[in-house]
Amino acid sequence: MDKTNQGRLIVLEGIDGSGKTTQVGLLADKFREMGTACYTTMEPTDSPIGSLIHQIMTGRMHADPKVIAALFVADRLDHLLNEVNGVVHKIKEGVTVIMDRYYFSSYAYQSVDVPIEWLIQANAQSSSILRPAVNIFIDTDPEIAMERITKNRFDQELFEEKTRLIRVREKYLESFERFKDTERVVRIDGNRSQEEVAQDIWKAVQQI
Ligand code: ADP
Ligand code: TYD
Repeated sequence: MDKTNQGRLIVLEGIDGSGKTTQVGLLADKFREMGTACYTTMEPTDSPIGSLIHQIMTGRMHADPKVIAALFVADRLDHLLNEVNGVVHKIKEGVTVIMDRYYFSSYAYQSVDVPIEWLIQANAQSSSILRPAVNIFIDTDPEIAMERITKNRFDQELFEEKTRLIRVREKYLESFERFKDTERVVRIDGNRSQEEVAQDIWKAVQQI
C-alpha cells in the first residue's frame, strides 16, 4: 500500500488527571470538523488482557509488578495487531488514530518497579511496528492533577498518590530525554484551561 495514504498515530501522554481523556475527545471533534476520519482508543484496553490489568489495578486481583508490566506489553501488542479492531489495520486504512497512552506510559509508570532496560526491550516490538507521528505530553503539575481527580478529600492515601504522580512525571521526562533522537515529543503546558490546551495540541498536530 502507498504509505502516503496511511493514517497517523497521535499519542497523548500525561500523569493521571492531566487532562488526556478530555483532550482526546476535543482533538477528535476537531479532526471530524475538518472532515478527517479518526478513531480514538486507549490503553489499557477493554480486551481480555486489558480487563485483567483493570482487575489488578482496582485490587480485585493481585500480581507482581513484573507480571503487570508484561501484561501491559501484551495488551499493547493486541491493541496494535488485533484482527478485528487493531490500530495497525486502522492506520493502513488511512484513519487518524488518537491514542490515550502508549509505551511511554509503561516507561513512566512501570519503571518504578521494573528495570527500564527490560521495559524498553519488551516494548521494542510495539515501537518498531508503529511509532507515533507525535507523542503529546500534557504536562500538568501533580498538585493540580490531584485536585482535579480528588476534590474534597485529604488523607494519607492522597499524600502517597501525589508522591507517586511526582515520580511518574519525573520518569516521563527522563524517558523523553532518553528517546529524544528517535521520538517526536511535544510538551504542552496542561495547567491551563481545556480550550488553551486544546489549541496548542491542535497547533502541534498541524506540524506533523
Ligand atoms: P486524564 O484522562 O488525564 O486522567 P481527564 O481528562 O479525565 O484526565 O481529566 C481529569 C478531570 O479534570 C476531569 O474531571 C476533567 O473534566 C478535568 N479537566 C480536564 N482538563 C482540565 C483543565 N484544563 N482544567 C480544569 N479541569 C480539567
Ligand atoms: P485509567 O483508568 O485509564 O486512567 P487515566 O484516565 O488517568 O489514563 O488507568 C490507566 C492507569 O494505568 C494509569 O494510572 C496509568 C496506568 N498505566 C500503566 O501503569 N502502564 C501503562 O503502560 C499504561 C498504558 C497505563
